[in-house]
Amino acid sequence: MSEAKKLFLKTYGCQMNVYDSERMAEAMGAEGYVLTEVAEEADMVLLNTCHIREKASEKLYSDLGRLKPLKLAKPDLKIGVAGCVAQAEGAEILRRMPLVDLVVGPQAYHRLPEMARSPGQVVDTEFPPEDKFDHLPARKTNRGPTAFLTVQEGCDKFCTFCVVPYTRGSEVSRPVARLLAEAQDLVARGVREITLLGQNVNAFHGEGPEGGAWTLGRLIRALDEIPGLERIRYTTSHPNDMDDDLIAAHGDAASLMPYLHLPVQSGSDRILRAMNRRHTANSYLRLVDRIRAARPDILLTSDFIVGFPGETDADFEATLDLVRAVGYGAAFSFKYSARPGTPAAEKPPVPAEVADARLQALQALITAQQHAAQKAMVGRRVGVLYEKPGRLPGQMVGKSDHLMAVHVDDPQGQVGDLVQVEVIASSTNSLAARRLPG
Ligand code: SAH
Ligand code: SF4
Ligand code: F3S
Repeated sequence: MSEAKKLFLKTYGCQMNVYDSERMAEAMGAEGYVLTEVAEEADMVLLNTCHIREKASEKLYSDLGRLKPLKLAKPDLKIGVAGCVAQAEGAEILRRMPLVDLVVGPQAYHRLPEMARSPGQVVDTEFPPEDKFDHLPARKTNRGPTAFLTVQEGCDKFCTFCVVPYTRGSEVSRPVARLLAEAQDLVARGVREITLLGQNVNAFHGEGPEGGAWTLGRLIRALDEIPGLERIRYTTSHPNDMDDDLIAAHGDAASLMPYLHLPVQSGSDRILRAMNRRHTANSYLRLVDRIRAARPDILLTSDFIVGFPGETDADFEATLDLVRAVGYGAAFSFKYSARPGTPAAEKPPVPAEVADARLQALQALITAQQHAAQKAMVGRRVGVLYEKPGRLPGQMVGKSDHLMAVHVDDPQGQVGDLVQVEVIASSTNSLAARRLPG
């Protein structure tokens, strides 16, 4: 038997890229490729890219530059670019970097094996009518206790700063029967926590087994019935798609965790309008109240953009006010990055120093809230799902119900155990806890 070919796969960007990379690795596995961590050993290098901000997308070109000597030493080496830069730039990547052999957009991954076999340079950034996941091999590898499951892809919201509607296309939901089967299969392989993914996951409207569309709330309730599936999360949600049933599910679906990432981007109505978010600061705050009424201990997180074109000091103050009013468990904040082809990129930018100062101020406030949220856990009893051994002997590390990192002194603990702990201390980015009997 000939030696297996080796695939070096690097993933940038969001959790959906992580999921896609896994599926591409499996598809290439069926072609005889095994994964390697060492680019120098690889017969094929595949970069799964992100286009969301300029920095993310420029990483592709610096990585490709570093691959040049490898390709010169080994002309048979296949170099592939997948993901959102592939979709956005297509054949332009080949012009800028002739060492690239193939460019494959996120909707064409099922064609990757065929593209890898074909000689010469190939580009596929089509949005084919068929579901790529129906044409990718089933997930076979044994896995850790947590997994992602893409239920919805694409976005029809067209926020004026964002490339996602262009790179991922319009909203498509996967059929319910396939999702339930994939979830059951994951559980059979040892998965105890599933995070449902979608660029607009709560706009899910997958076809139900008897026809008719299911909402995300209904899908979550069905997943909640699967024995052995202990924890369900979903990301990322748009505030306007939080319907009553989904909010109610936070109160009555036992395995739905008390955690929700609900990006708001800004606290200024003027800026929200310019962003085409179609909600106000106030409607977001009222939504937060309704969610907390259904699940009082829910931990909320968000994304923010500072320095959006036209953002004044008063607009930024409104963002700080909103953060103070909500009290987040954590949040990502980004400096606005003008993206080619998006409407906001036409507008004059806020000076870089001003955006930098705002980013620092916002991050300081969010960090303070994160520490307060962690401290508030001390003395409480929470569930922890062990994901890996800790750095110290006898220590296990996992995530709490609220998605906080927790380390527990537990020499008998095994990866995959879901245990009850009492939180005893909070440090910068994690909690320490003591395992409770039972
Ligand atoms: N679908 C998700 C987010 C996708 S992108 C949602 O609707 O919330 C993840 C985050 O990147 C966004 O929430 C936003 O905060 C940030 N982002 C997107 N485009 C950006 C840009 N042009 N500049 C800076 N940050 C951006
Ligand atoms: Fe981008 Fe807005 Fe769609 Fe989120 S909702 S992916 S920020 S366009
Ligand atoms: Fe990046 Fe595409 Fe995800 S742009 S954030 S990899 S959807």
